[in-house]
Amino acid sequence: MTPPPVTEPEAPGAPGAVVYLDSAASAALRPEALEAMLPYLTGEYANPSAHHERGRRAHEAMEGARDAVAEVFGAIPEEIVFTSGGTESINAAVKGVALAQSEAGVGRHIVTTEIEHHAVLHSAQYLERFGFEVELLPVDECGRVTPDQVAASLRPDTALVSIGYANNEVGTVQPLAEIARAVRDRAHALGRRVPLHTDAVQVANTHALDVDALGVDLLSLSGHKFGGPKGSGVLYLRRGIPFLEQISGGGQERQRRSGTENVPGAVGFASALRLAQDEREAFSARTSVLRDRLLRGMREACPEVRVNGHPTEHLPHNLHVCFSDLEGETLVAALDARAIECSAGAACTSATWEPSHVLLAMGVPIDLAIGSLRMTLWPSLTEEQIDYVAGELPEAVAQSRRAVLPAP
Ligand SMILES: Cc1ncc(COP(=O)(O)O)c(C=O)c1O
Repeated sequence: MTPPPVTEPEAPGAPGAVVYLDSAASAALRPEALEAMLPYLTGEYANPSAHHERGRRAHEAMEGARDAVAEVFGAIPEEIVFTSGGTESINAAVKGVALAQSEAGVGRHIVTTEIEHHAVLHSAQYLERFGFEVELLPVDECGRVTPDQVAASLRPDTALVSIGYANNEVGTVQPLAEIARAVRDRAHALGRRVPLHTDAVQVANTHALDVDALGVDLLSLSGHKFGGPKGSGVLYLRRGIPFLEQISGGGQERQRRSGTENVPGAVGFASALRLAQDEREAFSARTSVLRDRLLRGMREACPEVRVNGHPTEHLPHNLHVCFSDLEGETLVAALDARAIECSAGAACTSATWEPSHVLLAMGVPIDLAIGSLRMTLWPSLTEEQIDYVAGELPEAVAQSRRAVLPAP
């Protein structure tokens, strides 16, 4: 497996060395993706809609990227829509299908879970302002929903079901294929088809994305989570699924997403996705070993640590923990001062610091939920770096606890 670029010096603790444990927030651009993009960031800058030679070359690059992504999904190229990232793909999926279903008179009931990313939850809330009814399914203490629970929520007026494949905070993986089967059976009993969308933004490094094997109708991805460029994303939209475009204009992407195409973004996305999928097994094997080592070291250093998520059905590179009597943001700062970069909960939500909706939905007590820390790994990390983190943790935790003590 080609290791992703390691920008940090080998020896943790050395001046300038950084241990990066935040790959779920963003991963380094793969050199192969950069190389594939470079021509389209320089000389090959023509508009893919242009009717000249370089325009045709840009168009061919887009279509090559589309073919490559379609192959990964086991889909046809026409079902691939390039977007600006996970957030846009999810907005397009949730709003696009819901509005089309409403227009067709199918209904305005949307089913999702309490622990979705805010791109899903806020898109659904947005639709509530226009008369949609959103049903948020509760999860168990590990962050899972059951296929029966999802199927039981379906009604004759259900427009869309959206279930995240893996949670971006605690890393819990849902039994997606079983959920899809249950949704299909229940929809069949209702005499209809109910589109199923999955936010798969966190799983491209670790899970296969064959849309027929998964049984999903829509699937959202974001390029920078697996070594593609930021500002690139894909929505898989199964042929025949009702959809109203959210970005109108010149009719690019077969009328589903207007705007001049981000050619380098699409090319880099496709290159990185192919590599990430080829390396899935090695990625999972290596990061599992590193995660086990980190957790062992962490438990030796801080025996009181609470591990969140599912004991087995979790992303192999995600370690999410809580400490009592401290705030996660303070701990992140204390670790940052020791050249360890990680996240309190999720980076996407850390602009507004409040207890994670995911942890609260899983029944984690609020005083523990505010002391949460997410460490997400990458195969290029070394054992030495992991041991350095475990070694630095007790003092960082103690320092963060002192920060919340009332002044004497
Ligand atoms: C599960 C999940 N969905 C959606 C997103 C949004 O992706 P982006 O910020 O790249 O648009 C993220 C980002 O962290 C995520 O983790």
